Amino acid sequence: MEPNWNRLDEHVKFYLPVVVAVALVSILITGLITAPVRRVKGYSPVQPVSFSHQLHAGQMRIDCRHCHLGVEVSRHATVPTTAICMNCHKAAATDKPGVIRLREAAARGETLLWKRVHKLPDFVYFAHLVHVQAGIRCDNCHGDVRRMDVMTQVSTLSMGACLGCHRQAHERVPGSQANLTGPENCSACHR
Ligand code: HEC
Ligand code: HEC
Ligand code: HEC
Ligand code: HEC
Ligand code: HEC
Repeated sequence: MEPNWNRLDEHVKFYLPVVVAVALVSILITGLITAPVRRVKGYSPVQPVSFSHQLHAGQMRIDCRHCHLGVEVSRHATVPTTAICMNCHKAAATDKPGVIRLREAAARGETLLWKRVHKLPDFVYFAHLVHVQAGIRCDNCHGDVRRMDVMTQVSTLSMGACLGCHRQAHERVPGSQANLTGPENCSACHR
């Protein structure tokens, strides 16, 4: 028997748009429901000790790399150990409640469990070293940290935000070469 191509065509005409519409709607709904969790602009969790970047990095001008060791040579920036804090706080501001808590933790050999502020989903690959070595300043992605009394996420870290810079990185990075761009192929960030 000859297949009835006209019937098939009608089926495709009817079902294909339905399937596509259902797929698009479910992607959209999932995106909308999870968006507040992913795009946590303004997120600032309560930390075990209230640590002020405005005081340490702003007023006292301590270099970011003093505490965030390895940010220019590795994928992740580290968060300081209590030992780094205690280099100064054996002597400095020892009467402040936060410093007393810090000293007690250090004496017990405990690390302070700083809560993570910026976090990309696991399916995204990001490495600090390439960006920092390309001359991109921390402020570009983390905002004016030197003025933050409480660390807050100010940028969405969305795909659009990454690509927005990758397309025209030379405009976003002062003093960079005029042809500086970042990758736009999917596999660069989703590997
Ligand atoms: C004296 C140590 C110290 C210095 C200097 C310092 N930081 Fe931090 N930083 C910390 C600590 C402790 C935390 C974790 C607690 C918090 O989030 O406030 C942190 C957290 C952060 C985070 C959030 C990490 C996350 O979980 O997402 C960013 C971003 C950051 N610092 C950037 C900077 C930048 C940029 C500079 C320089 C302008 C800087 N820091 C200087 C100690 C320091
Ligand atoms: C191109 C954007 C960009 C630049 C520039 C940048 N960061 Fe980040 N930073 C991020 C992103 C994105 C994350 C979240 C990474 C993740 O979840 O894997 C992050 C996370 C962090 C964290 C939390 C620990 C970690 O590595 O996940 C710290 C601390 C931090 N950054 C400090 C810094 C400091 C200090 C500088 C400057 C020396 C800097 N960052 C420059 C985008 C950037
Ligand atoms: C390079 C030296 C240095 C390092 C490193 C350092 N601090 Fe401080 N910190 C100071 C000084 C100095 C003060 C007092 C500033 C003032 O009162 O004007 C201070 C003040 C503080 C205060 C009291 C703020 C207030 O007024 O209540 C806390 C809490 C604190 N630091 C926590 C930390 C933590 C946590 C770390 C490690 C992540 C750290 N500090 C690393 C030098 C340092
Ligand atoms: C302010 C500009 C800027 C922002 C924002 C930015 N990038 Fe980049 N990125 C660059 C530049 C410039 C390069 C190329 C550096 C080079 O070639 O030396 C790059 C390179 C990369 C690479 C290729 C190098 C590697 O590590 O494999 C990846 C992956 C990457 N970026 C991921 C991201 C992700 C994910 C985000 C968002 C969370 C992001 N970038 C945000 C400027 C940026
Ligand atoms: C420069 C890095 C970068 C490149 C290149 C990139 N993405 Fe993404 N992508 C991201 C980041 C970051 C997120 C997480 C966004 C969030 O959490 O809101 C993401 C999320 C996604 C998601 C999840 C849905 C969403 O919006 O959160 C899909 C699907 C996706 N990307 C597909 C792609 C495809 C297809 C390409 C190639 C055309 C691509 N991406 C290229 C960084 C990138």
